[in-house]
Amino acid sequence: MSIQRLEFAEPFFQVDYVEGEASCAASGRCLVFNLAERSQKPLYIKGIPVMPLKGTVVEDVTVEHIDRALIVRDYDRLRLDDPEVVRQLKSTWKSMYERSGLERHKGIPYYKSPKARVGGDTEINFCFVSEPMAPSGPHRDHDRDFDEVHAQIRGFGKMQKFEENDVSTFYQETFLAPGIIHEKFYNEAGEYPWHQYQSVTPCVYMPIEIDR
Ligand SMILES: [Fe+2]
Repeated sequence: MSIQRLEFAEPFFQVDYVEGEASCAASGRCLVFNLAERSQKPLYIKGIPVMPLKGTVVEDVTVEHIDRALIVRDYDRLRLDDPEVVRQLKSTWKSMYERSGLERHKGIPYYKSPKARVGGDTEINFCFVSEPMAPSGPHRDHDRDFDEVHAQIRGFGKMQKFEENDVSTFYQETFLAPGIIHEKFYNEAGEYPWHQYQSVTPCVYMPIEIDR
């Protein structure tokens, strides 16, 4: 019933939130993420389902039976290897430390867009990591109670798990490429292991936070 242009990642990315639409054009090269986690409804691309909290890269297709989805249009247009683009990203989006005030975020090369709230219960933002192999810092708790996953937008990254608040206790990781959302890290009680995002290349990723 709506296709809404979101402002949060402008002017770098064009992101549309689509809810309750029988079909929606994805022109050019786009990322499509199915956000219908609470309803568990797949969306369809040429008759093939994309399940909730999964994403994909498409070009010039019609996305069908959308309960809730995000479309990042012309997603690979921005030149992340252009120093002027990097300068603009760093000056437009606040550093992770400026946003969180957390000591563990001091000095890390992470820059976050403002957040957008969609569908009444889901918050998203984009985060630019300007350096390769840059960890975000292990954590187990968040600033509020939400179900968290991460989607890759540009470049490559990974999500890692640790036994303790110590990277030497690493035991599992999932690599992320554009269009990929990692599997859930939280259990049924909403508890997380120690975990962190780490860039592999300079990259952009999207935290997805769904109210519990
Ligand atoms: Fe987290």
